[in-house]
Amino acid sequence: MRKTYVIGNWKLNGSKAANKALLDGLKAGVPAVKAGVAIAVCPPFAYLESVVAETAGSAIGVGAQDVSDQDKGAFTGEVSVSMLKDVGATYAVIGHSERRAMFGETDAWVGKKTAAALAGGLVPVVCVGETEAERVGNQTEAVLATQLDAILAAIPNAAPGSIVIAYEPVWAIGTGKTATPEMAQETHAFIRNYIKKAGEAFAAETAILYGGSVKASNALGLFAMPDIDGGLVGGASLIVEEFVGVYNGAA
Ligand code: G3H
Repeated sequence: MRKTYVIGNWKLNGSKAANKALLDGLKAGVPAVKAGVAIAVCPPFAYLESVVAETAGSAIGVGAQDVSDQDKGAFTGEVSVSMLKDVGATYAVIGHSERRAMFGETDAWVGKKTAAALAGGLVPVVCVGETEAERVGNQTEAVLATQLDAILAAIPNAAPGSIVIAYEPVWAIGTGKTATPEMAQETHAFIRNYIKKAGEAFAAETAILYGGSVKASNALGLFAMPDIDGGLVGGASLIVEEFVGVYNGAA
């Protein structure tokens, strides 16, 4: 039985005071771990260690928003898997569309980061998704296949359940335009079927999260779909009631 994940991606938001207020609210709103459902937040690197400390002993896990494919050396600005492990992170979001579009991350690079995270004991939350133009041009499946191939090629021996995939249609991110549950389900089913090339068990055990304007009011409908195993939540993860509401929509 695969797990469900509700992961908040704070993006470039936060301050010591704002983080504390948000985490206090989340800890009160999510007092206990729900069986089979993991909840986590991904703050900017600068706050990782303090968020790990704030959430210690709670149901809330912590992840980074990116990670280097390199372990150490002359790579100014990078943060390695071993450093993330050292400060207590569990997850790393990899290949977010904002990093692909604004920071030049290629499919191959995303694959290398995924392999590094997995080898170093982090759970990679690897993002895939098409732009609006690609969807309109009927390229969604081809784009996803290319992105998924690069990921799978980099982790040929990955155990079932060791990575999480986040499907985030770029046109739905931060726009308020959510894919309908049916539309998202169709794409999730495509992804699950496609990753069978890594094995039936791998496909069955891989959690595929939906991301793109997920909020309390639409989470339940999305998460009720058979191939949607939770959400990667941006804007709504910064609002206690919204993020707790999304979590409550996950079973
Ligand atoms: O990582 C999260 C996604 O980019 C979704 O962001 O919920 O603000 O649309 P959003």
